[in-house]
Amino acid sequence: MTAGPGQLRELLDAFQARFPFDPAMHPADETVVVRSPGRVNLIGEHTDYNDGFVLPLAIDREILLAGRRRQDETVRVFSLNMGDESAFPVNGVAAPAAAGEGKPGPPGGWSRYVEGVVWALREAGFAVGGFDAALVGNIPQGGGLSSSAALEVGVAVLIKELFGLELDPVATARLCQRAENGYVGVQCGIMDQFTVALGRQGHALLLDCRTLEYHYVPLPAQHVRLVVADTGVRRALASSEYNTRRRQCEEGVALLRRHLPDIRALRDVAPHSFEQLRDRLPEVLARRCGHVIYENARVLAAAASLANDNFTACGQLMYASHKSLRDEYEVSCRELDEMVEIARSVPGVYGARMTGAGFGGCVVSLVRADAVDALVAAIEAEYPKRTGKTPAVHVVTPSAGAASLQVIW
Ligand code: GLA
Repeated sequence: MTAGPGQLRELLDAFQARFPFDPAMHPADETVVVRSPGRVNLIGEHTDYNDGFVLPLAIDREILLAGRRRQDETVRVFSLNMGDESAFPVNGVAAPAAAGEGKPGPPGGWSRYVEGVVWALREAGFAVGGFDAALVGNIPQGGGLSSSAALEVGVAVLIKELFGLELDPVATARLCQRAENGYVGVQCGIMDQFTVALGRQGHALLLDCRTLEYHYVPLPAQHVRLVVADTGVRRALASSEYNTRRRQCEEGVALLRRHLPDIRALRDVAPHSFEQLRDRLPEVLARRCGHVIYENARVLAAAASLANDNFTACGQLMYASHKSLRDEYEVSCRELDEMVEIARSVPGVYGARMTGAGFGGCVVSLVRADAVDALVAAIEAEYPKRTGKTPAVHVVTPSAGAASLQVIW
């Protein structure tokens, strides 16, 4: 289900009904509309916060936002999906003391992301006033497709357009990561926000998370398609486990630095130097660090194989990535593993792996164009048998990053 004209119409109708133009309240009868996509990561998991490489893409599942400036300093946002409105004064959002230290930020649901973006923009010195907005989306929530990054970047682009801020997509991504780290209290890396802000239709994005240099890698639809299969599993522990993995990587770097004084992050450790030092690390840390170091190498190899249309090689790297996430980084779960095995059994599937932080969520498969139907049928038949759960299968296409839309009224 892609947001088509129907969803846009629904959004605009709800926006006008909820926040009708009022000359006493709004400086102009002008509505800005923004589209902000979800993302799926092809390969490069848990590498972004280790200064490493990732190969994600923005997808054709998205959040649409409509907004209008207000004369005062109030923000009101209505979510059609939640049937819920949040209101707060722009100068009333302060980061809780705990956020930014790996502890949870303020309680609450979707509106924390809106508040966080307003907070991060103001902290960076941007003049943000009040506005009214409505939003609707079709990105599965909590499924590892970055519905929260889509919301953050969508809100940032909406505010940029409403107030004419000088904010390029890279700066937007950084500010939205800051919102999530400093306000929401999740110590995520830059991958999600960057992909949502900079995706390109028909392409994946090879990103160096240290320098933020990036290249687009074509994914030719006549040859390959992407199938995202949601296990339906959501783990409440995901964010504390995520922060634990981050800490383990930092501990690994501190220990490795005794022997390799020039390294700053796991990104700087080559596989052969790691093998010589592996035994000096506690066993769990060695497995965590090993995953990240080899995953970085897999990302670069995957990008090179895609550039040569060698989808078989790319798929093998995806399977290897999944195995490493399952056995070394320990962020998979039985349902994700079953889903990968189902995909592997279908002729024409090049590769499959869990995508996103893990502990549930989705599996992404790279599939020969003519094998999509067989894969979808296999998942729908096999997954319930093996797990007792119902999958949700999405055939996705690489899409453009967040931007305002020209709407003809
Ligand atoms: C989450 C985070 C990202 C990244 C992935 C794991 O999606 O938001 O920054 O760390 O997990 O690769």
